[in-house]
Amino acid sequence: MERPKILICVAWPYANSAIHLGHMAGSLLPPDIFSRYHRLRGHRVLMVSGSDQHGTPVTVRAEKEGSTPQEVAERYHEINKKAIEDMGIEFSLFTKTHTDNHVRVVHDIFLRLLENGHLEQRQTMQYYCPQCKKFLPDRYVEGRCIKCGNENSRSDQCDKCGATFEVGEIADPVCITCHARPEMRETQHYFFKLTDFEAPLLSYVRKNEHWRSNVQLFTKNWLESGLKDRPITRDMSWGVPVPLPGTEGKVIYVWFEAVIGYLSASKEWAQSTGDPEAWKAFWTDPEVRGYYFLGKDNIPFHTIIWPSILMGYGDLNLPYDVPANEFLTFKGEKLSKSKGPSIDIPSILRLFEADLVRYYLAANMPEGKDADFSWEDFETKVNNELVATLGNYFHRVLSFTHKNFGKVPPLPDGLKDESREVDQAIAQALVEVETYLSSCQFKKGLKAVMDLAQFGNRFFDSVAPWSLLRSDRDRCGGVLNLNLRVVQALAVLGYPFLPFSTQRLWGLLANDGSIGDGSWKDATKDLSVGRPLPEPKPLYKKVEMPSEASPFSAFEALDLRVGLVKEVTDHPNADKLMVLQVDIGSPIQLVAGLKGYYSKEQLTGKKVVVIVNLQPAKLRGMVSQGMVLAAEAGDQVKVLTPCGPAEPGERVTSGLDHGGKMLTFQEFQAFVLRTGTVLNDREADLGRPVQADTAGLTKGRQAAFFLPQDGADTALPLFTESKVVIGVDGELENGARVR
Ligand code: MF3
Ligand code: ZN
Repeated sequence: MERPKILICVAWPYANSAIHLGHMAGSLLPPDIFSRYHRLRGHRVLMVSGSDQHGTPVTVRAEKEGSTPQEVAERYHEINKKAIEDMGIEFSLFTKTHTDNHVRVVHDIFLRLLENGHLEQRQTMQYYCPQCKKFLPDRYVEGRCIKCGNENSRSDQCDKCGATFEVGEIADPVCITCHARPEMRETQHYFFKLTDFEAPLLSYVRKNEHWRSNVQLFTKNWLESGLKDRPITRDMSWGVPVPLPGTEGKVIYVWFEAVIGYLSASKEWAQSTGDPEAWKAFWTDPEVRGYYFLGKDNIPFHTIIWPSILMGYGDLNLPYDVPANEFLTFKGEKLSKSKGPSIDIPSILRLFEADLVRYYLAANMPEGKDADFSWEDFETKVNNELVATLGNYFHRVLSFTHKNFGKVPPLPDGLKDESREVDQAIAQALVEVETYLSSCQFKKGLKAVMDLAQFGNRFFDSVAPWSLLRSDRDRCGGVLNLNLRVVQALAVLGYPFLPFSTQRLWGLLANDGSIGDGSWKDATKDLSVGRPLPEPKPLYKKVEMPSEASPFSAFEALDLRVGLVKEVTDHPNADKLMVLQVDIGSPIQLVAGLKGYYSKEQLTGKKVVVIVNLQPAKLRGMVSQGMVLAAEAGDQVKVLTPCGPAEPGERVTSGLDHGGKMLTFQEFQAFVLRTGTVLNDREADLGRPVQADTAGLTKGRQAAFFLPQDGADTALPLFTESKVVIGVDGELENGARVR
């Protein structure tokens, strides 16, 4: 018989930031557990995803960094691809949307839909910024959500409640670049006639009674509130071009093309196997189920838009299940760098093994409702459950057996009752884990594994091998044999959740090969009786939260702001000083020793960084209400300046909290700030390489950094509240002191 096949599609993370715990818990870990389970069951799995590289999420990020969309999209693709691998998420292919293959597949679908009459060019209104003189698609406009009242909603979708909007729907729209109120202008766009699919969508949704209730409800509400035709092109240049003449300056809407990625990635995977038609087995065989894993904000695109595209195209399977997760929330935790580690995956993996993170996220998965994340909860669950129940059981059994027998002991007759008890416990766990995993209930699946571990601990205590050791050595070996069977079952049942550590455990049981190459039935296979056991090592160590304050918390005492220089005059009584009128949200006067380095014209209109909580000082008779930060090297002086859009008065926080008492000049001089160049996502050159949280910054960019003290081997880049990095106004050597 042919092995059953299954298609697993995973939402494509935007290539505009490093993936974090929310992505893992919401859309990445569940399909990995699911696919590992199916592969153990002997099913053929095709699991695809990639980086969502187009659209305004990426262009907005690039503008903030002063970089290009291409550079940002490639950088985060590499960062996220690695983070995904390091977490043990095993894709058949994790690709990206900025590929020729993807563009080809998107064009094929676009043109077929056009031919079938589902696309239509229409005159329509679009936001236009009179100050920036350009059309403002999607994330370039923000305003108030008309559903939930969120003040910082994007113009296409609200992150808080998931509502999606038409152009013109959000309240109080503003241009994110210049904060002007956009006007409406006419433009031409292609519309996808969703209304063509109203009836087939309704019956499709009705048929899918196995969908999670949140997914059904959301989708039905969408359908009931009436479908609208949607524009699927945008006035911008980064993206998949429209495959028709006369469409210069327009690209296909990122959501419309990203969902097509599931198909283009399947085709790319087929190419790579040497059988370019191999994808068809997963897309055209009606017996093959397609599962789509995503966060709840992605639901309508997968239960309405993507099925409509597929219906309009024809011949391909519609999604069978869309097990969307709710959100992992972080309300118990301030996401600032000063309080505990940051939550992006690359940073977390520098501190903890992947399986610990996988355990916690599976145990705290936001399946039916939002789940809250906190570092305390992470510590508690890992230490009290993973280490104390699972790890402890493994270690008790393995170290006792290794020490006293050295090999897997046989099971003598006369342990019938115990044997039956163990068989039953394993069989029950097997059925439960199977039931839960095949229905995408991962949290319950993990609970069933942990219940078996708890059974094991109780069983070990009840048979008390330590007291049998002298009195009845054969029987002692026998009960250990039974315990080793439980351990072996746990290795297999736990493998989808904890692939790295269960594989180590497999070796400690004197088994060859890898669990993943074996089968689900290995949970009940015979032990390799008589084989020597390797020296056991504990599988998990307790975690300790780095509880001491961040080395950078001292910088919380600085109140740094973005200032806009309005007017510059010479100091009446000093040769080297200039008097600056600066807007920091309110007007202040500063006296600065910049003469000879900058002309008045060069400074006027420049954005600078100002320390505003310095005790006001009189310098040769003129009051200075703060200081302009500038870097000095040899005979050069350059002011610090934001590398992207920043508002006068905006805080330069670097993710730290802010204390706020007034500082003396001497106190300020004790802080070490230096210039440096970004080397990669974790290092900068400050005259010498130092560790720095530079994830997301353009390589080669010069920026200002905090140092806990001179000579420290970690540094923190300065950036504004809206994450715009603070650079140097012109080139200067690395390691130059900022004052
Ligand atoms: N990039 C989107 C997000 O992060 C998800 C896209 S899923 C896709 O919300 F299939 F459309 F790519
Ligand atoms: Zn604007």
